[in-house]
Amino acid sequence: MARKDLLDISALDRTEIEHLLEQSIPFKELFTRSVKKVPALKGKSVLMLFYEPSTRTHSSFEVAAKRLSADVTNFDVAHSSITKGESVRETVETLQAMRTDYIIVRHGRSGLPGMIARQTKASVVSAGDGAHAHPTQALLDAFTIKERFPDPTGKKVLIIGDILHSRVARSTSTILKKLGVEVAYLGPGSLVPRTGPENIRRFTDYKEAMAWNPDFVYLLRVQMERQDVQFFPSLREYHRLYGINDSRLEEIRKRGLFIMHPGPVNRGVELCDAVMDYERSLINDQVENGIAVRMAVLYWLKPGGSLGSSPS
Ligand code: CP
Repeated sequence: MARKDLLDISALDRTEIEHLLEQSIPFKELFTRSVKKVPALKGKSVLMLFYEPSTRTHSSFEVAAKRLSADVTNFDVAHSSITKGESVRETVETLQAMRTDYIIVRHGRSGLPGMIARQTKASVVSAGDGAHAHPTQALLDAFTIKERFPDPTGKKVLIIGDILHSRVARSTSTILKKLGVEVAYLGPGSLVPRTGPENIRRFTDYKEAMAWNPDFVYLLRVQMERQDVQFFPSLREYHRLYGINDSRLEEIRKRGLFIMHPGPVNRGVELCDAVMDYERSLINDQVENGIAVRMAVLYWLKPGGSLGSSPS
């Protein structure tokens, strides 16, 4: 059953997730063709509404929509009437009058894409809201892991870093648990919440976490922009305790582990330069796969449902 909106991966059951990941495969196959475009969404309109900066997610959704032949409009928040005090509600009402079919929204406030979804008949996709959810990041991470292990049941993913402020950690660990993957968190005690998803191991010591024998090491950026107090002594100390430096990378290489990162990366903090050239770094695969899963999402969603009825 197709949905109107995609706001949080936790709303999808395993069958829906598997369906979206399967649908992404033929879309990815398109990328090697000379013509990378299909007419699936010809005549449909996609509006990009990004209140927070983005490189990967924004460009990936734009490329995905264009490869499906949709018309894409980039709403320029910085030069809009929002700067004159117009509210999100009024902005969306104005956009609703333009009868756009899809709204892709990123906002610093958790839950805001859901509020927009209840207000419009357009399909709303969260491109990340506050520390809440980043559903398409979760899908592209799961797709990337399944490319290496088509049945990922029992595989282990160690997520390292700023779990507390990370919508990626929340959404990606949710999808991985739904697919039978084991997940553990590693980071300073102040950034690894004690509460939250069950059946997730929590470590504060790097060596102990590596003794858990992960198959994937998933690095997160320290989100300084969401921290109003100091959660650890310094970035230098963070790198010493949790960063992937040259000697840790050597150990990771010997053990044949894969490295992932949602981007943007902070070199010298969560990783050293050499990680980007590591043969089992999947960071660029994640970026490429993001386009395929976002094509699958746009193709799957059905705009035009009744207002206020979004179950997702
Ligand atoms: N992964 C991710 O959300 O990156 P951007 O902030 O560049 O979109």
